[in-house]
Amino acid sequence: MSQEGKRPNIRVRIRGMSPIEQMKMALEEKLKGIKRKIVIMSGKGGVGKSFIAANLALALAEKGYMVGVLDLDFHGPSTPRMLGMKVRGLVALSDGIMPATGPLGIQVMSLDFLLPDDTTPVIWRGPLKAKAVTQFITDVYWPELDYLIVDMPPGTGDEALTVAQQLPPMDGAVFVTIPSEISVEVVGRSVAFAEKVGIKPLGVVENMSSFYCPCCHTTYRIFGKSSGKVIAEKFGIRFLGEIPLDPRVGEALEKMAPFLLAYPDSPASEAIRKFADAVEDVLGGPLAPEGKGGGGQE
Ligand SMILES: Nc1ncnc2c1ncn2[C@@H]1O[C@H](COP(=O)(O)OP(=O)(O)OP(=O)(O)O)[C@@H](O)[C@H]1O
Ligand SMILES: [Mg+2]
Repeated sequence: MSQEGKRPNIRVRIRGMSPIEQMKMALEEKLKGIKRKIVIMSGKGGVGKSFIAANLALALAEKGYMVGVLDLDFHGPSTPRMLGMKVRGLVALSDGIMPATGPLGIQVMSLDFLLPDDTTPVIWRGPLKAKAVTQFITDVYWPELDYLIVDMPPGTGDEALTVAQQLPPMDGAVFVTIPSEISVEVVGRSVAFAEKVGIKPLGVVENMSSFYCPCCHTTYRIFGKSSGKVIAEKFGIRFLGEIPLDPRVGEALEKMAPFLLAYPDSPASEAIRKFADAVEDVLGGPLAPEGKGGGGQE
């Protein structure tokens, strides 16, 4: 083939957009009224991603920001429960489906709202999940927000990959770890995974870091050695703080009460507020007061 014959193909590759890129552009356009978009992820399951996503949203809303939460854990949508929300069915307007309004005005979209009851399992395969991610963004009326917090499914396998690949550009990812050496390896893989799918790793927070016993006044590190600082150092990302274990987290869940609001003075709530400050800091500092509430500029 002559050189002439090759040229058009080269131009198409540079200027043309793949269907995925086109879709991402459409999603980005849909979310353009949102100032900061953060993904909460971890290579490990059950480390508190949903707890952190929900309580980070609450801590930011407490500061006066307009906050949204997008729950993309289709098989275990638990963020609404962490926010104390029991919603069945959503309102559809001409602009799209309205997210449900949670405590402190937090705007929440979760598959949980569309399931008939708490026990119905979600049996979806990859293509359906990919479609759901797109619909949760394009078919939902997302108002102007200061922050959108995205709660991801666990792992670095098919599930997380399908979801991560559909996401429009994010400001970055916060990784949740728990103490233990194995977490360094597993969460570390998740940092590398985020980089591969084009999500900037922002920092790491260590959940369930320690337990303070009010009876014997001793602090126990139940799960082992700290992993958060090790991961932060290894991957050159920020250590965003540690959140202790608190048995009242379970109590709050049972009562359907948002933890940060139910136990505002607990050490875990204080740690969550510090973590929210660190997240703002790593993103360039607090949004200007006139920027809060979606109307103004950063
Ligand atoms: N700091 C904490 N103190 C006490 N309990 C906690 C704490 N953080 C999370 N939990 C509890 O641990 C359990 C797992 O938390 P969560 O569901 O947020 O994890 P996850 O990483 O989102 O899990 P999954 O991988 O299944 O999505 C929940 O029952 C939650 O209430
Ligand atoms: Mg979860």
